[in-house]
Amino acid sequence: MFMSSSENGANVDVSSRVPCVNLSSGDRMPMLGLGTFGSDTYSSAQIAAAVEGAAAAGYRHFDCAAVYGNEAEIGYALRRIMKGGVSREELWITSKLWNDMHAEKNVIPACEKTLKDLQLDHLDLYLIHWPFPNYHAPGCDVTSRSASAQPYIHENYMKTWRQLEKLVEMGWVRNIGCSNMTIPKLKLLLRDCAIKPAVNEMELHPHFQQPELFQFIVDHGIIPVGFCPLGSPSRPARDRTDEDTVDLEDPVIIEIADQRGVHPAEICIKWAVQRGQAVIPFSVKRSQYLSNLRAVLSEPLSDVEMRAIAGIDKNCRLIKGQVFLWKENQSWQDLWDIDGRIAQ
Ligand SMILES: NC(=O)c1ccc[n+]([C@@H]2O[C@H](COP(=O)([O-])OP(=O)(O)OC[C@H]3O[C@@H](n4cnc5c(N)ncnc54)[C@H](OP(=O)(O)O)[C@@H]3O)[C@@H](O)[C@H]2O)c1
Repeated sequence: MFMSSSENGANVDVSSRVPCVNLSSGDRMPMLGLGTFGSDTYSSAQIAAAVEGAAAAGYRHFDCAAVYGNEAEIGYALRRIMKGGVSREELWITSKLWNDMHAEKNVIPACEKTLKDLQLDHLDLYLIHWPFPNYHAPGCDVTSRSASAQPYIHENYMKTWRQLEKLVEMGWVRNIGCSNMTIPKLKLLLRDCAIKPAVNEMELHPHFQQPELFQFIVDHGIIPVGFCPLGSPSRPARDRTDEDTVDLEDPVIIEIADQRGVHPAEICIKWAVQRGQAVIPFSVKRSQYLSNLRAVLSEPLSDVEMRAIAGIDKNCRLIKGQVFLWKENQSWQDLWDIDGRIAQ
């Protein structure tokens, strides 16, 4: 087991103290992972260095994706981490199929490329990144639309899902899941799949708690993995609107953080893990990823504090997904099946 030094100099096995959650396959996934999407601001080399630094501190779960454009650099970092004494079995590596690779013939080659880049012979978890096959160039403006964009077509999504199931049969992938799904889409997937999604990766933070979807997922034995757990304070300008609220500046979060003498980010992370969602905060800064790790190891929040945070939900979605829209004059709400029907 890889050992890491705590700030007071004592060697403690931090990684084994990070809480884990059982997936439907029986595999245990650490509830804290390091996000790896930061390509608007940080280089692939900086992100790969953070993966290595975080592993040395006790992180074992890394949330990767082909579209983040840094899997090759992260692959070298993972190789060094394993050379340093962390076994493959201790690591939890997630990756995701990008939207331009949904076609049946593309799924296995896309996974093969990710495995090659990450220098792995299997992934712990492979997700369909978005339920839309709509391509847009990395970093494009939210007004950008693909000429061949489509709504969610369940028959096509299932063709992609079958290929993910095949990857499990082939032993390339241990668990499969989805991301950015809604209740109506999940109902269809659960009805038609042979292998149930192990997780749904979704936007979750105190100002966007998605209680109905969260409960649906939990009731179906699916693990919620929350992205933007801090409210993505450094997201690019294209993902900001005037209506967006700021979790880290919420008075309830600040008051609890002040009482404990910690950064508000730690409170967002503690709340998430105690609520039952895995979290994948991104940071390349050592002080931040250490603080995010400390958050899952320290004293739990009280019931009163948990209830206070439950009360600050503002239904404020930050990653609205405008680039996936398929018709003129649509609203981003059409992507999220708000009235319970899948928009066509
Ligand atoms: N499945 C999907 O569709 C999807 C979508 C979005 C994201 N994700 C995943 O979720 C991960 C996290 O999302 P995110 O990066 O958008 O949001 P986030 O984790 O909520 O925010 C990350 C930012 O918060 C700041 N930060 C991190 N730790 C901090 C701390 N302890 N104290 C103060 N500030 C702190 C950093 O800002 P500075 O760098 O400015 O210091 C960092 O860039 C991504 O990296 C990616 O892996 C998945």
